[in-house]
Amino acid sequence: MFTFTKDCLIGVPEIDNEHKRLFELIGEVDAALKMDADSVSTAMALLNELKQYAVTHFAHEEAYMASIHDPELERQQKEHQAFVAKVNSYRFSDITDETAKELILELLEYLSKWLMGHILGSDILIGQFEANAKPMAPVFTDKFKTGIPIVDEEHKMLFDIIAKIYTAIETELIHDKFDLILDILDELKEYTRVHFADEENYMREIGYDGLAHQEILHQKFIDTLEELDLNDVDDNQESYLYEFLNFLQNWLVNHILKVDMLIPQK
Ligand SMILES: [Fe+2]
Ligand SMILES: [Fe+2]
Ligand SMILES: [Fe+2]
Repeated sequence: MFTFTKDCLIGVPEIDNEHKRLFELIGEVDAALKMDADSVSTAMALLNELKQYAVTHFAHEEAYMASIHDPELERQQKEHQAFVAKVNSYRFSDITDETAKELILELLEYLSKWLMGHILGSDILIGQFEANAKPMAPVFTDKFKTGIPIVDEEHKMLFDIIAKIYTAIETELIHDKFDLILDILDELKEYTRVHFADEENYMREIGYDGLAHQEILHQKFIDTLEELDLNDVDDNQESYLYEFLNFLQNWLVNHILKVDMLIPQK
């Protein structure tokens, strides 16, 4: 089970305190389950409290994001809704205490992992994106270097692939421009998988304790890439693409500078 660590701090005290409390509540439900007498009903009551607290927290966080005109608000709202839907999908009536215990434990595992991935992958980006900014192709400079050769080479390659997408969007008069962009996006998806696997292997090899957090973050990013479906967007594909690119490269820049930079060199 994941617990609150200092890399979860996003720098907005009210939000940080609430995240900490959410992890505590998960821990309290877990602890209640391990008591003997009447553990299931205590755990259920706490689980309800956790759910209420999460809903209140999401509302606070969304209000904060709205107040700073954070362009990621909509993406966050969707993620928050998915969390609530997951919790609500569990039914605990007409089952034995033993089954209830197993179900609650399963749910707690999911919630702690979700929360860690959401905070490190999404909440950490609150306040980082400029609204309506037209993004520019990223340039791989020294400040992005981790000092681990394979990681640095692959990060540079990711930047280069993103730069190719910009070139394609901005070049007028190419035939089948849209197909070209789709091809490069596929290349990006493919290469991202390769890179994450290489980076994770390196971390495994050196016995790095940040591996578990990294794996969650990588998976989440891959899921987001998979969700992109340009065929869904009929009009204004260009602005949709810019919005997506903005997210993509902000995520990447933030991830490299704040997360990958902590990986020790051999
Ligand atoms: Fe959030
Ligand atoms: Fe990386
Ligand atoms: Fe990474």
